[in-house]
Amino acid sequence: MVETRIKGILLAGGSGTRLYPMTQGASKQLLPVYDKPMIYYPLTTLMLAGIQDIMIISTPNDLPQFKRLLGDGSHLGVRFEYCEQPSPDGIAQAFILARDWLQNSPCALVLGDNLIFADHLGELLQKAASRSHGATVFAYQVRDPERYGVVSFDEAGKAQQIIEKPAEPPSNWAVTGLYFYDARVSEFASRIKPSPRGEYEITDLNQIYLEDNSLHVERLGRGCAWLDAGVPDSLMQAGLFVQTIQSRQGMLVGSPEEVAYRKGFIDSEALRNLAKKLKKTELGRMLAEIVDGPPV
Ligand code: G1P
Repeated sequence: MVETRIKGILLAGGSGTRLYPMTQGASKQLLPVYDKPMIYYPLTTLMLAGIQDIMIISTPNDLPQFKRLLGDGSHLGVRFEYCEQPSPDGIAQAFILARDWLQNSPCALVLGDNLIFADHLGELLQKAASRSHGATVFAYQVRDPERYGVVSFDEAGKAQQIIEKPAEPPSNWAVTGLYFYDARVSEFASRIKPSPRGEYEITDLNQIYLEDNSLHVERLGRGCAWLDAGVPDSLMQAGLFVQTIQSRQGMLVGSPEEVAYRKGFIDSEALRNLAKKLKKTELGRMLAEIVDGPPV
């Protein structure tokens, strides 16, 4: 049997009203998180999972800006496909829009404002990517679960229920904006009806997998950081977080160039060329050091 390669969707739509006026002139996912555009972080997450076929979905207005930034992906050894979401009708709509492109492949979806940082993240993601049956979502403990999809567990630790933005959260485990689904995803997504707020909810899709008894919930522990950059405070916190790690450890966070190289999508010559283009920046210097070590 030929192995079906998992594809990835990066959802970068929405009008970013919670970040007005910053997002009145620019797409939210292009705002800086320290030294990189926000979209680099979730893009890096997909690439870390080994995904090389990636569809970027955004509004008709913003899509050209993403094309200008990311091109066809060949410089990173990946293939980008672009798709318009004519109106912001919910996350799960992505699987309807991407149906023909997906051709029944398994698929990961990441939200363009989600940053996940963890030791051994690559292994965790590859495990989720290699599951051929069911879905995998990640849960993270937060102080304000009412802002998110929330999952509750029974005494045996099995996921019991997933609810979108509950007024009275049954637990403080929020579901992050990174999801892995098997080949049935587009078919399951087509069963969803718009919620009272008029959106095709990703939580309803996860609920279908839960009822199918094939939803895996991976709990991310305290060694992980999950940040969403959806409001001014969390945007600032995400930037400070990246700055702190990079300047303290000298290691990059959220660099698709580095991940492309480490995963073998591009060779050292290609990384050197990418670094050269950024030579006036600290980011470019750090990339150059990954290939050639510190300057002598
Ligand atoms: C969305 C999802 C929610 C999830 C969150 C993660 O919320 O609907 O289930 O927990 O992303 O960032 P939204 O960002 O649309 O409010």
